[in-house]
Amino acid sequence: MRVVDLDRDMSDVIPTNLARDSEFLFARMTEVTLDSTGAGRGRRVLDVGSGVGQDSVALARRGARVVGAEPSARMAAMAQLFQSAPLPDGLTAPTWVRGWADALPFAAQSFDASFCKGALDHFDAPESAIAEMARVTRRDGVVVLAIANFDSLACRVTRAIDGLRQEWLGLPPLRTRRGYDTPSDHFTRYELDLMREQAERALEIDRVIGISLGWGMPGWTALLSRLPASIADLGLRAADWLARRSPSLADVVVLVGRPAVRGAEPIGR
Ligand SMILES: C[S@@+](CC[C@H](N)C(=O)[O-])C[C@H]1O[C@@H](n2cnc3c(N)ncnc32)[C@H](O)[C@@H]1O
Repeated sequence: MRVVDLDRDMSDVIPTNLARDSEFLFARMTEVTLDSTGAGRGRRVLDVGSGVGQDSVALARRGARVVGAEPSARMAAMAQLFQSAPLPDGLTAPTWVRGWADALPFAAQSFDASFCKGALDHFDAPESAIAEMARVTRRDGVVVLAIANFDSLACRVTRAIDGLRQEWLGLPPLRTRRGYDTPSDHFTRYELDLMREQAERALEIDRVIGISLGWGMPGWTALLSRLPASIADLGLRAADWLARRSPSLADVVVLVGRPAVRGAEPIGR
């Protein structure tokens, strides 16, 4: 039996009251991921682990023909609801397909782009999933992976502060849910080297983009909430600029590549 929770919804993933750093991180991760697909009119795009489908709908609004692949019936039902507002004339609503990422029900080279956002660490067979994304994407197409980095600067600093508090001062950790602990529904704890290693088995990596720096770090969230909005925004953008220069410290990493071709056939065929 496969050990995945197909009844889950997004209530544990999307906080109801977003702090400024969370809002920035989610918005920037989405912007960079979706832009990297190059989605535009007529482009065929696959959203792997599409969840409630908001990204598929956003790309359909750019004119792309999008398929969202998702194994969870509950997520797929929520995607249908999210999509209830009709799209303007000339645009095609996404198609929803029930399917596992490691056995995508599509022919080779069916898509111009495929992407997987915030989901690879939920998969029980992530390397097979990346190989499948490479297989179903055209050889000159693009594969985009957006993955949370559990060795980010924020994770390192928070872990060090907690260690100091607990071991030296005998105090409890700053929060009960510690951002550097792998959530219970994750199979893999990713950091940049592991992301690269797994991706390079099936992809030629073109770009690695670091997104946001300091997410949830003690003091950072509180400081941002006290600053005037324009100054907080400047601080978040400056931190994001640093993350682009040092992806290994970033909160999220977006890897952009093409299906690797070794010998005559793409990997994963
Ligand atoms: C955190 S959600 C991310 C959803 C969406 N990509 C987003 O950014 O909002 C992770 C999704 O991966 C799906 N998932 C888990 N295991 C999977 C697998 N093996 N193949 C495909 N999707 C899977 C879950 O059902 C869930 O919808």
